[in-house]
Amino acid sequence: MRLTFSKKMTSALLGLVSLAFASILFAAPPSPSIPQGKGEQCVEPTDLMRKNHMDMLMHQRDATMREGVRTKKHSLVECIDCHVVPNEQGEYPQYGTNEHFCSTCHNYASVSIDCFQCHATKPDNTEYRHSLSDMNAAHQSTGAGSVTKSDLDIVTAEKQ
Ligand code: HEC
Ligand code: HEC
Ligand code: HEC
Repeated sequence: MRLTFSKKMTSALLGLVSLAFASILFAAPPSPSIPQGKGEQCVEPTDLMRKNHMDMLMHQRDATMREGVRTKKHSLVECIDCHVVPNEQGEYPQYGTNEHFCSTCHNYASVSIDCFQCHATKPDNTEYRHSLSDMNAAHQSTGAGSVTKSDLDIVTAEKQ
C-alpha cells in the first residue's frame, strides 16, 4: 500500500514538475543567466541594483557631466570593473552577447542602451578600449583607434 501511495505521489510530483517546465519553456523565454562578477557585494543592495541601476547611472552621469562632481560609488567604470569578467578562454565578452553582464538582462528585456558606443565594455586594465578619461579618448570616439608604438615607428620612419 505504502509503495503504491509513494509511487502515486512521485508521479503526481513529476507531473507538476514537468508542467512547471512546460510553462517556462512555452509561456516565456528562459530567464537570463547573469554572469557572476567580482567582489563580495554590489555598491548598493542587489535588489535595489536590479530595479534602480539605470537611475543611479543616469544620476551619476548628470552629476559628472554637468556639475563636475566625480565620485566613484556609482561610476560606470567601476560597474564594468567588477561585473565584466573573462570567460574560460580568457576573453572578455562584448556588450550585446548574453555573456556580457550588462546585456544578459537587456537582451532578455529588449532594452537598448547607447552607453557602450563611448564607454569601454570591459575593464580598464586591458588593451581593448581605453577609458574615456584616457588620453586616447578622442581617438576612440572618432574611430581612429589608439596610437601604438608601431604607429609611431612608422611616422618616424616616414620622416627620415
Ligand atoms: C557620446 C559618448 C557617450 C555616450 C553615448 C555615453 N557617455 Fe557617459 N560619458 C561620456 C563622457 C565623455 C564622459 C566623461 C568622461 C569620463 O568621465 O570618462 C562620460 C561620463 C559618464 C559617467 C561618469 C563617469 C563614470 O564612469 O562614472 C557615467 C556614470 C556615464 N557617463 C554613464 C553613461 C551611461 C549610463 C550612458 C548610456 C545611457 C552613457 N554614459 C553614454 C560619453 C558618453
Ligand atoms: C565591488 C564590485 C561591484 C561593483 C563596483 C558593482 N557591482 Fe553590481 N554586483 C556586485 C555583486 C557581488 C553583486 C551580487 C550578485 C548576487 O547577489 O548574486 C552585484 C549585483 C548587481 C546587480 C544584480 C544582478 C543580479 O544577479 O540580479 C546589478 C543589476 C548590478 N550589480 C549592477 C551594477 C552597476 C550598474 C554597477 C555600477 C554602478 C555595479 N553593479 C557596481 C558587485 C559589484
Ligand atoms: C538584472 C538585469 C539587468 C542587468 C544585470 C543590467 N540591467 Fe540595465 N536594465 C535592466 C532592465 C530590465 C532595464 C529597463 C528598465 C525599464 O525600462 O524600466 C534596464 C535599463 C537600463 C538603462 C536605462 C535604459 C533606458 O534607456 O532607459 C541603462 C542605462 C542600463 N540599464 C545600464 C546597465 C548597465 C551599464 C549594466 C551593466 C553594468 C546593466 N544595465 C545591467 C536590467 C538589467
